[in-house]
Amino acid sequence: MRAGTSRRRTLAIVFLAMALGACNRQQSVFAAFGEEAAGINFVTLVMVVGGVVIAAGVAGLMLWAVRARPGALRLQDGERLILIAGGLIPALVLAALLAFSLPYMRPRAVAEGDLRIDVTGEQFWWRVAYRPADGTPVVSANEIRIPVGRTVLFRLAGGDVVHSFWIPGLAGKMDMIPGRTNELPVRATQAGRFRGQCTEFCGLSHALMAFDVVAMPAAEFDRWLTDQRRPAVARVDPGAALFLRHGCGGCHAVRGTAAAGTIGPDFTHLAARPTIGAGTLRNTEAARLRFLRAPAAVKPGARMPAYPQLAETEARAIARYLGSLQ
Ligand code: CUA
Repeated sequence: MRAGTSRRRTLAIVFLAMALGACNRQQSVFAAFGEEAAGINFVTLVMVVGGVVIAAGVAGLMLWAVRARPGALRLQDGERLILIAGGLIPALVLAALLAFSLPYMRPRAVAEGDLRIDVTGEQFWWRVAYRPADGTPVVSANEIRIPVGRTVLFRLAGGDVVHSFWIPGLAGKMDMIPGRTNELPVRATQAGRFRGQCTEFCGLSHALMAFDVVAMPAAEFDRWLTDQRRPAVARVDPGAALFLRHGCGGCHAVRGTAAAGTIGPDFTHLAARPTIGAGTLRNTEAARLRFLRAPAAVKPGARMPAYPQLAETEARAIARYLGSLQ
């Protein structure tokens, strides 16, 4: 096969993959489930259509000038055209665009009783704390749930390096900077399961730093949040004892047990999360075991150490125990 054909084929495959990628509705700016994202979409649409109209006008004018009879164009007409089409019209268009888009840039007003959700970017996972108006925080990780039709205020910070918080279907991006809290008020309009992603290069596993976003009907969300406050269902489990004996509780918390670490993700209701490792693997026993056996292979650069001293049966018991944390 000639090199040209092979390159064309590769290009076609890449193009097709990108085009099909746009059909994804879990993580797409075109599948808006929040008012902020819908606003961004609308401004984008207006700008694209406006841009096409202007480009078509310029192309038409160029065509007309090229085809004009010699001598048909006068210097003064040309100068006037440059003044109007090159100076006056762009100034008017930009001013109109600014006036049109400013309201979309104004952050949504947040009331006293609106839910605050603190999200901190860590290498390479998301620390989440719900702070309802009654003051009792609910800590979680790598999954964010929000009520549909209510304003939620994300308070975003960087725990170690700069990360960036982006839920394409919900709102624009916001940087997470260590030592600073950035606020992002949003409102979801549609229930569903979506996906967010870190969009600032933050180290080896930057690309493996995603999270699940669940937008729920408000009443269902309230029940869920109340339920999240209870500690993990206690059970007699060999994995639970091993989890503590091998020091996992030094980094991870399982509320209701002696494990109260805050360095790594909270595991209290881990079983309910669809993925582990911040969207890296599906939350199955085999995946949990794989992560536990070789964290660096699953997530290069992650701070979790390997535990080669763990016997296979012990590691399996811990992986099973984590899957029971409802
Ligand atoms: Cu965190 Cu990129």
